[in-house]
Amino acid sequence: MADKTRETYIQSLFADRIGGPMFGKETKIYKFEKIKRAKRAAMAAHPGMELIDLGVGEPDEMAFPGVVKKLQTEAARPENRGYADNGIPEFKAAAARYLERVYGVKGIKPEAEVLHGIGSKPVLAMFPAIFINPGDVTLMTVPGYPVMATHTKWYGGSVYTLPLTEERGFLPDLDAVPADILTRAKLLYLNYPNNPTGAGATKAFFERVVAFAKKNGIIVVHDAAYSALMYGAKPLSFLAVPGAKDVGVEIHSLSKAYNMTGWRLAFMAGNERVIAGYGTVKDNYDSGQFKAIQKAGIYALDHPGITAKITAKYERRLRSMVATLNKMGFSARMPAGTFYLYVKMPKGVAGGRRFANAEEFSEYLITEKLISTVPWDDAGSYIRFSATFEAKGTADEKRVLAEFKKRMADLRFEF
Ligand SMILES: Cc1ncc(COP(=O)(O)O)c(C=O)c1O
Repeated sequence: MADKTRETYIQSLFADRIGGPMFGKETKIYKFEKIKRAKRAAMAAHPGMELIDLGVGEPDEMAFPGVVKKLQTEAARPENRGYADNGIPEFKAAAARYLERVYGVKGIKPEAEVLHGIGSKPVLAMFPAIFINPGDVTLMTVPGYPVMATHTKWYGGSVYTLPLTEERGFLPDLDAVPADILTRAKLLYLNYPNNPTGAGATKAFFERVVAFAKKNGIIVVHDAAYSALMYGAKPLSFLAVPGAKDVGVEIHSLSKAYNMTGWRLAFMAGNERVIAGYGTVKDNYDSGQFKAIQKAGIYALDHPGITAKITAKYERRLRSMVATLNKMGFSARMPAGTFYLYVKMPKGVAGGRRFANAEEFSEYLITEKLISTVPWDDAGSYIRFSATFEAKGTADEKRVLAEFKKRMADLRFEF
């Protein structure tokens, strides 16, 4: 009896931001849960058949041996044991070196203009705490990584979405933001190369962003989680554009560029006042990443050749996937960067099933072919194929790609 009463009052106390008294009782199933369930059901229906998982958003391999070795050595050193607080100066210096070496960004002052994060996700989650008061607006591109939007709302702000469409090269139309939104807008979130579209930004676009931000008094947050993973073109930093440091910051992550997702290491660089605000917020959230991980991170940042090897692997895989999909009638193109292919879904199967949205199409691929993808219905209906599927070496990679081709080959789609 007593326990029941207890359960009742706890349930009634949940904050509105996570559903209030309805927390955990909602019946709506969200996209990623649906994918998980469809995967489980398909595997149960086809026992023994291999799932081709093209839905994963993280590298399939571990960090490179040099990085792992550095962590092993540093983890054993007593001087690394304690709280790291807002980070060690050596990591900040390495971040500045990296920005110059890989992106040609000169003049970043490590002490004032760089601060680490325990991955870029928590940095994005904390960001609204620096600037958003109730009623303020964050401009967010969609489809996209929603963390900053969630936290903007949790701080009482609201989100104005900027759709990324194929016609505009998946760059937002900044001129389309209404004047009343502009006066309330404090933050603009951008992410290039972009998850999920794979699109890259151009220098001209970033210049336009700097002018837009200055004119409207808006802070730019460029999420550069995939910036080092580029195919063909050189990596482009927002901070390489004149005036960028006056209006914003860029967040780099070691997750994707160095196969270090689980290590949790990122850094923010750019405007000194924004970095100072982040430092104050961060200091109230965490006590910094383990110094040994930061030191292994320095090794990684000083070895960008690691990223070149990772990029070569994804490029090989993506080219094969593009060829397979185009043979099937899709309009797939090599992305500018990231490890994603973002392709328009077919209308249906020839002479049969129609798809109302990408979610239905994605479910069809799992159910019929045990091929897992991620659907996006935010600005048109597309599905995302990721080149991070698991393979044990290049021979196995070829086998998985051949299996993908074989399974897709007996489907006939209408576009
Ligand atoms: C666009 C984007 N930003 C940020 C992240 C978070 O990366 P991390 O927290 O591992 O640095 C991801 C992860 O998938 C992402 O896709």
